[in-house]
Amino acid sequence: MTSGAPSQSRASEATAIAHPNIALAKYWGKTPHAGNYPAVPSLSVTLEGMTTTTRVCFAGSHEHDRVLLNGSEPGGDAYTRASTLLDRVRAATGETRHALVESTNDFPTASGLASSASGFAALALAAMSAAGPDTRIDEARISDLARRSSASAARSVFGGFVELVAGSLERADEHLSAKPVAPADHLDLRVLVCVTREGKKAVGSTDGMRRTAAASPYYRAWLDTAPRMFEALRAALLAKDLEQVGTLAEASALAMHASAIAAGVIYFEGATLAVLEAVRTLRANGLGVWATIDAGPHVKVLVHESESARAREALVCVPGVLRVLYTRPGAGARLA
Ligand code: PMV
Repeated sequence: MTSGAPSQSRASEATAIAHPNIALAKYWGKTPHAGNYPAVPSLSVTLEGMTTTTRVCFAGSHEHDRVLLNGSEPGGDAYTRASTLLDRVRAATGETRHALVESTNDFPTASGLASSASGFAALALAAMSAAGPDTRIDEARISDLARRSSASAARSVFGGFVELVAGSLERADEHLSAKPVAPADHLDLRVLVCVTREGKKAVGSTDGMRRTAAASPYYRAWLDTAPRMFEALRAALLAKDLEQVGTLAEASALAMHASAIAAGVIYFEGATLAVLEAVRTLRANGLGVWATIDAGPHVKVLVHESESARAREALVCVPGVLRVLYTRPGAGARLA
């Protein structure tokens, strides 16, 4: 990181890297107030191997915020979400200048591979570091800032296994950040990311959640079930019981998607179902594999390190699987 004091003469810049996380106990749905608070608790694992790198430079010469995502200007919602985060950083630090943001992902963007989680975690850390170079980086503050843009991003600030509790219904302005639950080496877990499509997903997660809450006859059931699944999964994780963690993670993903599907929000594609079927067949044949799916068609397969090569060999052959990324629990966001 190179940075100057936030005087208006010198540019102030910082670069951060962050990784996506995969929720084992899913969050889906928000509390009614503004501020992007999750309606249910979630527990995730931050993944090594897929990386977002984000540089933020505040300078007097910028007439407005400029955002470059993988080399091109995203415009629309992606631009607004980034500049809203920068507005919050300016309000918190006294920085007054506009910024140039350059962000790159070494994996597909906005396709259900949690690029918003790594993207907003890296942006929050880089922007706070650039705007307040002399202040100690407070991870809880960075996590709260990232959460306001994308709730799952709050979790990518930390490495290993991470939880984010639900927002309270009484307080509309609370500080809510994720918290580490266990370090990356707590379980010999591997996550095989079965990529089934390169393009962007059709329905963003915020829109998908809004439609689920408005129209799903099963949304209430999801809100009742998710906290219990979260508690059980947390306990299984602390007991290092991978079989139970995997079983509950698959159940959480299926319950989340069942509530969304009932509102017509369908992220599954043919290849998604083909991988799900392959996972169930492998399991019936004695392999410890479990599937989880986020707001996109890809399937992430959880497996113990010792069985990961066999699982990968089988998954690359499933029709519709373009490639399988081999990932493991990893570190949280940090300055480059
Ligand atoms: O990060 P958001 O607020 O766009 O939503 C993420 C939703 C899921 O990935 C499907 C679940 C989760 O807990 O990460």
